Amino acid sequence: METTRRGLLKAGAAVAVGAGVLGPRTLLPDAAAVGETALRTAAGRSGRYFGSSAAVLNLLTDPSYADLITRHCSVLAPENEFKWALLRPVPGQPYNFLLADQAVAWAEARGMDVRGNCFTWNNSNPYWFQLPQFFNPGNALAVLEEHITTVMTRYKGRVRSWDVVNEATNGAGYYPTPWAKMLGPRYIDNAFTIAHRADPDAQLVLNEYNLEYDNRYSRDRQAVMLRVLDDLQSRDVPVHALGVQAHLAHHAVRGQFDPAKHQRFLRSVASMGLKIVITELDITDQDLPGDVVTRDREIAVAYQRYLDCVLQVPQVEGVVSWGLSDKHSWLNSSEERFEREDGLDQRPLPFDDRMAAKPAYAATARALGRARRAAPRTR
Ligand code: XIL
Repeated sequence: METTRRGLLKAGAAVAVGAGVLGPRTLLPDAAAVGETALRTAAGRSGRYFGSSAAVLNLLTDPSYADLITRHCSVLAPENEFKWALLRPVPGQPYNFLLADQAVAWAEARGMDVRGNCFTWNNSNPYWFQLPQFFNPGNALAVLEEHITTVMTRYKGRVRSWDVVNEATNGAGYYPTPWAKMLGPRYIDNAFTIAHRADPDAQLVLNEYNLEYDNRYSRDRQAVMLRVLDDLQSRDVPVHALGVQAHLAHHAVRGQFDPAKHQRFLRSVASMGLKIVITELDITDQDLPGDVVTRDREIAVAYQRYLDCVLQVPQVEGVVSWGLSDKHSWLNSSEERFEREDGLDQRPLPFDDRMAAKPAYAATARALGRARRAAPRTR
């Protein structure tokens, strides 16, 4: 207690005397010193994990971000390093494992588990998927098999959970990813079967977005998802968990989210013997006024509402945030920028751009703290 209070005072003093003199990093109060519970610790109390995605280049070049992730996370989801475009930029050339290796090593050095995202997706694919001499209905299955087998064998026992198939459905059925176009929807069966053969101990996940709301769009997607999972199981396809991305929007969590109905959906998934992973949590604030205090407060309310709901389901085994600090959120990145009308950066994550805890951190810690006990891990 004494240390904590002294830490606080010291941090306060640094802010007071340091403004404009010291660099922003020096001004940061150390989270341990201000008594912030690590989110991994809060999650562990109900038998869960807490993690985040991060680009390994950010971890290696931004020490304050690396510290934040190290402190709060027991799982790392490399943000892009396992995607096709990075691993296989040029056809016929060796794999580029440089960044993926660094990400896995970084996590291992800190005793963190790794989640891999992803083996099939519509996006982040290399240009040669569009060139029939390299990618066509005749070779796509062999291309998929070689890729999954090579990557999973390399990281066998080191990547615990894989998003084998990402964003495969829409409200009408199967999303026309390059794989669906080449192989038809049974590419999903193939991908999981190949993955299970490559690393029988890994957790294999079907990862999907926009499953959360009580609106027509989301309800259709939920119905399709339950049908797809049921079909996969009827064919004994080795799927172990549903990944619920939880890329949420503030206005929708406020107006179109029914916790009881969402729990019902998650329980339907759980009743199939599947686990559920919250894989990519963040909450956009495009509908909120620019004022930071209001925005942060409302985003925290949305975090609370969402996490209090899902963490009552024992089969929800853990929560992975899509980045931890607003500074490195994909929603603010130049390629993906989800614009606010006022042009301000979004504030979608538990920590601000200086790694200071926001109300969303407190909401997350609180929700983790009152979560229902998780069902035992199976993988
Ligand atoms: C995003 C990354 O955050 C971006 O940096 C990249 O430009 C595109 O992909 N669903 C997913 C993730 O499964 O892989 C996506 O990550 C976000 C949406």
